[in-house]
Amino acid sequence: MIDFAKFSSIFVANWKLNGNLEFIDKYIDALKNKPATKNCVILCPPYVYINNIRSKSHFFVGAQDVSHKEEGAFTGQVSAKMLSDLSVKFCIIGHSERRQHFYEKNSDIKIKARLLIENEIIPIICVGENEEQKNLNLTNKVIFSQLEECLPDISNSKNTIIAYEPIWSIGTGATPKLEEIESCIFELKNYQKMENYKILYGGSVNLSNSGNICNLNSVDGVLIGGASLKIEEFSQIINY
Ligand code: PGA
Repeated sequence: MIDFAKFSSIFVANWKLNGNLEFIDKYIDALKNKPATKNCVILCPPYVYINNIRSKSHFFVGAQDVSHKEEGAFTGQVSAKMLSDLSVKFCIIGHSERRQHFYEKNSDIKIKARLLIENEIIPIICVGENEEQKNLNLTNKVIFSQLEECLPDISNSKNTIIAYEPIWSIGTGATPKLEEIESCIFELKNYQKMENYKILYGGSVNLSNSGNICNLNSVDGVLIGGASLKIEEFSQIINY
């Protein structure tokens, strides 16, 4: 069990389909002297680099996805048990890019969350509305129903993390206003007794907004895509 109480904020770096061995060496080298010990830093590279990062870095390593199958004839898949063999402690699931490009459904995400928890890996479950839903004031309705459909009954505040990621904000440079982020995550925490869950914000987080976002009362940290690949910027973000 990871004791989150000892950390001030959680920072998840989602590298997506980026990185190579040379980049990893530079990255780890640059962050070596900036340990960010008061924060929980989780690096999520593509699967094939998990072991490289784990052996070279003192940060937690996470995966970006997992199979919804335990084993068998499922070419190209990686199971929760395999991730646990590599001492992976976290795994992003339900990212909007997985939902969009790989047609992932809430029901798949729920199975993945259960398998991860059973293998003592903390799922970081992504939820968020698209632009049209936001304009129709449907944000809360959308994310509440995603949560209802994605959270397995074995989930609790110690074995699961939620990431609120408005789809219109991912990779666009547009973010909700600070008060909108606070209110959305506040509402999530008040939803079905989720007040003790760690809830992150994700979507165009960078050096100029991460401090303000992390300082919001209800926000426990951030999930960072693009800016997590910029070594100097990321090292400043995690040491704020
Ligand atoms: P971004 O990506 O920080 O580049 O917007 C965030 C994400 O996809 O989780």
